[in-house]
Amino acid sequence: SSNQMWGGRFSAGPDAIMEAINASISYDQRLSDQDITGSMAHAAMLAAQGIISGEDLAAITDGLTRVKAEIDGGEFAFSAALEDIHMNVEARLRELIGAAAGRLHTARSRNDQVATDFRLWVRDQCDAAVEGLEALQKALLSQAEAGADWVMPGFTHLQTAQPVTWGHHMMAYVEMFGRDKSRFADARARMNESPLGAAALAGTSFPIDRHATAAALGFDRPMANSLDAVSDRDFALEFLAASSICAMHLSRLSEELVIWSSAQFRFVTLSDRFSTGSSIMPQKKNPDAAELIRAKIGRIVGANVALLTVMKGLPLAYSKDMQEDKEQVFDAADTLMLALAAMTGMATDMTGNKDALEAAASSGFSTATDLADWLVRELNLPFRDAHHVTGALVAMAEGRGVDLPDLSLEDMQSVHDGIRGDIFDVLGVHKSVASRTSYGGTAPDQVRTQIARWKETLA
Ligand code: ARG
Repeated sequence: SSNQMWGGRFSAGPDAIMEAINASISYDQRLSDQDITGSMAHAAMLAAQGIISGEDLAAITDGLTRVKAEIDGGEFAFSAALEDIHMNVEARLRELIGAAAGRLHTARSRNDQVATDFRLWVRDQCDAAVEGLEALQKALLSQAEAGADWVMPGFTHLQTAQPVTWGHHMMAYVEMFGRDKSRFADARARMNESPLGAAALAGTSFPIDRHATAAALGFDRPMANSLDAVSDRDFALEFLAASSICAMHLSRLSEELVIWSSAQFRFVTLSDRFSTGSSIMPQKKNPDAAELIRAKIGRIVGANVALLTVMKGLPLAYSKDMQEDKEQVFDAADTLMLALAAMTGMATDMTGNKDALEAAASSGFSTATDLADWLVRELNLPFRDAHHVTGALVAMAEGRGVDLPDLSLEDMQSVHDGIRGDIFDVLGVHKSVASRTSYGGTAPDQVRTQIARWKETLA
């Protein structure tokens, strides 16, 4: 038999394969709350505008409340023959309240309905992402506070570059996750306009009040163009783009935790709660959570690329292609929230190993720049000359298998006779980091200033 919602002109029902490719109910049932909330706002507006009667509104509101209870209680029988969440809800409403259910869809189409539901859902996910990021920032902030002045090697090219502080390194991620938060907040602000009332694509001849439904659903205003309202999924793409960048940051931190927790580095110890063992090698404690977060960016960036690809060639207005938006966004959002929670757990539990960090900080000629800076400051050498002298001293130390502070004053003077004994003062890693007091630099005082600023922001 033909479809009860749109089957007026059809004499036969769809092929089973048609139903299989067409139905979205298996996943878009996640929009049930948004769908019912949107329908209630729409019905209330129709009654306020005199488009439906007060009795019909009462019946619709009561019926939708019952449908919601059935869904929440797990008693609702979702039907693939009814394609999607919108028609599943409406069909059940008709069973419950009869003819009045048929008036709910006045001045509305599934095109503006789904655009509204999905915006509401993605809007919530932006808020959830901000919340998850804030928890992660707090965990990293505690780590930074605990080791604001612990010294560790800073790397470029993953080669020892200059000593930095553990607090400084942790706070670098606090900054990144802060920008991620602002990307989600920006996206939320931009998407917070209501498509409801755009109808199929052209608007409607009924005297609806789109400002009223927009306000009822917490939108800032109705979207100004009905074609745009039902056509675009840029709001979902912005969420995916922000998620991709955030997942990239999570992946980089994960990579560091994988390296840092290795026996060769021992910079951090991950907690048992966020590690796994090996079924054959008894000594193993593996950073699986970090590895999985590092990998999960693939799904999130994949979703971003998939939806961009779906959207890029679509003529205005709605095309069924756009039904492919939901699974990608659902999966990316679930993945991101899980990754954020796992990273927050790991970051809360992990222990920075002060001694191993400090030992590593002093190796690899990490204070060579401090030596060159001393030559500039004290002997007034041009920096390029100082660089050359220092390079010769590094080569000498490397040849003897020692570090820079192990060279004697005579060794130093054989390379440049102006060098004095107080040069040794700048070769220690603590002196090195303490000297980097420029704004945003690694000196513990600078780091503590940034920690205090963020503590206030996150309070
Ligand atoms: N399930 C559809 C979707 O997700 C709802 C909109 C359908 N509109 C239509 N004209 N067929 O996009």
